[in-house]
Amino acid sequence: MQIVTALEELREVRLRLPGLVGFVPTMGYLHAGHMSLVKQAKVESASVVASIFVNPSQFGPQEDFAAYPRDLERDLNLLEAAGCDLVWTPTPEIMYPSGHQTWITVEEITKPLEGAMRPGHFRGVATVVAMLFNAVQPQRAYFGQKDAQQLAVIRRMTRDLNFSIKIIGCPTMRESDGLAMSSRNTYLNPAERQAANVLYLALSIAKVAFENGQREAEKLHQTMSEVLVKEPLARVQYISCADPDSLQELHGRVERALLSMAVYIGKTRLIDNIILFQEGNYASHD
Ligand code: PAJ
Repeated sequence: MQIVTALEELREVRLRLPGLVGFVPTMGYLHAGHMSLVKQAKVESASVVASIFVNPSQFGPQEDFAAYPRDLERDLNLLEAAGCDLVWTPTPEIMYPSGHQTWITVEEITKPLEGAMRPGHFRGVATVVAMLFNAVQPQRAYFGQKDAQQLAVIRRMTRDLNFSIKIIGCPTMRESDGLAMSSRNTYLNPAERQAANVLYLALSIAKVAFENGQREAEKLHQTMSEVLVKEPLARVQYISCADPDSLQELHGRVERALLSMAVYIGKTRLIDNIILFQEGNYASHD
């Protein structure tokens, strides 16, 4: 596995990689969720490239950029063991040299949900992903369903800007008790870690209700809310029942829905989601 930092070096090594290239962009502190993307890339592509870059421009001024967990050595060992061919670890100076002034704004689908709570977040994500795509020149790129809106934003940007890259969405990897894997889970103390199960519990109970015939968006919303309020360490930021493509909030009868939420457990902000669909009514993007 080759590890490069300079852009010129990345380009040089990339050109020598054989066959189709699958790309997994990350911010590091890798867990089994990230590694599932690498595994999927490995199955589908001759060469696999990963990037590790904690992107300052997607963090708000009050967010955890400085505190974001980092462990490069461990990450590189995991990527090597998974058969990754090339890892790019650029610095902020490489990605944002002085004078940088080009930004990508994906419009409507960045407005609700995460976009509403984290102004500027998706501008940072879209811009860095476009820069990573242009540098790595992959044929395929892998993103987790865990960040459902991010996946939708990247799909939109890829179509809108004519990137010749197939975007592949991968399922959310969870701990054995259901908590979605996240680098931010390391912020949780033992009591909070226990309380954090309430996110998936709320989603799962709403899913059972849907499977038992509950089709009213407001009722599904209420079901999630009732589960979440029972957890004293949880503070809900938003709960949503939205159209999985447009991300617009749904009202009345629903056939397909993205249920999602952002919940503070103590000081840690966690997100999770699931997609509900009637048997035979799921139009997959892949
Ligand atoms: P990061 O949070 O490190 O996540 C990297 C990729 O791993 C994303 O596509 C994310 O959706 C996926 N991922 C995270 N947790 C997952 C889980 N439990 N199961 C499956 N996939 C999971 O997302 C980012 O970094 C950044 O915004 C980035 C796209 C790299 C741009 O800076």
